[in-house]
Amino acid sequence: MTSAARLNQLLAKPACSTFTTTENEAFGRIRATMHGWSDWRHWAFFRALAQFWESALPDGRPTSSARAALVLGVYQGMDIAIMRATGCKAYIIGVDKFSDTPCGDWPPENREHSWQTVGLGPAPNLAVATENLRNVGALTHTLLEESDDSVFLARCPLKFDFIYLDTAHDRATVERQLRQIRDLNLLTEDGVLAGDDYDNLEPTWGVRDAVATFLREHYLLAHRIWWCDAAVLRNSVERTGSEKLVADFHS
Ligand SMILES: C[S@@+](CC[C@H](N)C(=O)[O-])C[C@H]1O[C@@H](n2cnc3c(N)ncnc32)[C@H](O)[C@@H]1O
Repeated sequence: MTSAARLNQLLAKPACSTFTTTENEAFGRIRATMHGWSDWRHWAFFRALAQFWESALPDGRPTSSARAALVLGVYQGMDIAIMRATGCKAYIIGVDKFSDTPCGDWPPENREHSWQTVGLGPAPNLAVATENLRNVGALTHTLLEESDDSVFLARCPLKFDFIYLDTAHDRATVERQLRQIRDLNLLTEDGVLAGDDYDNLEPTWGVRDAVATFLREHYLLAHRIWWCDAAVLRNSVERTGSEKLVADFHS
């Protein structure tokens, strides 16, 4: 069974939507420490990832502690905090531009304004994210990098077992990220690629369109989080508009 299929199997279990008192308290502490948009779906997804990496792998593939994960889009650190709280022992690199500048998915009328003015909360800031992660005990084996993600990806000499896309959600950005990760071969053989906001909640978002254009086989959690195997990205060919129309019609 592939990594993505195994994750899907773990997430399909009824226990996937139940959370213990300890988990409730841990998530409460994270929410009280930092601002973010992640919820129980993210908790369930990252918990399943940690379970998958911790489970005994008969073919000797490494478990969590020998893994490397890349999170594109850190903001104040909530997803990384959730990953640690749900048992992820992997090395995590978190990349964010950490600046009060507009993102590729902002509508044109917001481009001249600050994060605070457009109602998104405080601007992303490296010192704040670092302090937040320290305060919830999630900084060990975590490296935060202040960079535009396209620059980071272009220079990255590493391969990751898991890459999570959560920067700008416009179609052009997500397609560029998929192209870079594929062409630079940044995922390990059995790696998993995933991302947030598949459901295109804002008119300027296009995650679903980008993912459907590139990745024939992908899995979904509650229409919010998507993921696929590295092999699916490796073998991806961008589908033309008409091919996608036909595929959408049959899906
Ligand atoms: C939705 S927030 C990420 C939320 C985060 N995953 C969490 O755990 O709360 C999007 C983040 O992407 C960052 N971002 C947007 N465009 C970027 C780019 N081109 N390069 C790096 N970071 C970017 C923003 O600064 C912002 O912090």
